[in-house]
Amino acid sequence: MTTPNPKANAYTVLIGATGGIGQEIAKQLCANNRPVVLVGRNTQKLTQLHHELAQNYPNLSIQACACDLSIPSSQDELIENLKQLIQPATNDSVNYIDAVIFNAGINDFALLTDQSDDLLEQMMLVNVAYPMQLIKRLLPVLIAQNKPSQIINIGSTFGSIGYPGFSAYSASKFALRGATQALQREYSDTTVRFRYFAPRATKTTMNNDAVVAMNNELKVNMDSPELVAKALVEFLSNKQVNQHLGFPERFFAWLNRVFPSIVGNAIIKDLPTIKRYAQK
Ligand SMILES: NC(=O)c1ccc[n+]([C@@H]2O[C@H](COP(=O)([O-])OP(=O)(O)OC[C@H]3O[C@@H](n4cnc5c(N)ncnc54)[C@H](OP(=O)(O)O)[C@@H]3O)[C@@H](O)[C@H]2O)c1
Repeated sequence: MTTPNPKANAYTVLIGATGGIGQEIAKQLCANNRPVVLVGRNTQKLTQLHHELAQNYPNLSIQACACDLSIPSSQDELIENLKQLIQPATNDSVNYIDAVIFNAGINDFALLTDQSDDLLEQMMLVNVAYPMQLIKRLLPVLIAQNKPSQIINIGSTFGSIGYPGFSAYSASKFALRGATQALQREYSDTTVRFRYFAPRATKTTMNNDAVVAMNNELKVNMDSPELVAKALVEFLSNKQVNQHLGFPERFFAWLNRVFPSIVGNAIIKDLPTIKRYAQK
């Protein structure tokens, strides 16, 4: 006699669930019937999102876990909570983590000489160093599951194109893209895959009024968070290693790699406009 298959919850862990894109990813994950662990720093927003999703999807396993990535003990606590969640269950359920999305990030649009040392440091920490610290803690947990899993780092078009007014942000996203590629190779002999997903400008509060006005003037496309989230959820189940959202951004990211002066000259033509907004 065969025993029935135990119910399996394959969780997607979403770091940065409370932001503009994060909330939409959370909704799309639930709409696609994916059990989810919402991870956020702002506990009020996290509780609100958790409550809303739990009401809308009563049959889906939706967990929430607060984590401030800047606090090592908070990262440790998140790992402990995830371990508890996927512990071999005593009842008929088997839980595991099949995807982790690193979506938390910060930005600041300004010329370098106008930025504080603290903000420059924060951008490198939140966008690169903290994700790498948490990935370091997560990897043994994912590998021990002995099931295929993936880590998706959310980059940006500016992780492939250095853009004036975003030098620290570009530096951090270039670094994140480099880390993702190195880790993908470093852990290619394990069950964990590393992938990189780069949205172009998106309509969230990450972009202040000056960025929105500049993008309008320069005719830079801005996607809705819903569109980005939908594309990300599709990316979760395809085989691409990297995805850059939007045309012409995807083409310019490629062109900037092979002929950087062509892209550079086009950007430099816009420099007076960019500086006008950056100095506001
Ligand atoms: N918006 C764009 O134009 C755009 C374009 C390309 C790529 N991206 C990338 O997409 C991702 C999401 O951006 P978004 O537009 O949705 O930004 P957002 O609305 O500002 O959300 C950022 C998220 O990061 C979290 N976060 C910041 N610092 C944190 C910390 N120390 N610990 C834990 N969480 C922290 C925030 O948590 P709290 O809610 O607690 O503040 C929030 O959930 C980012 O990685 C961003 O770089 C954005």
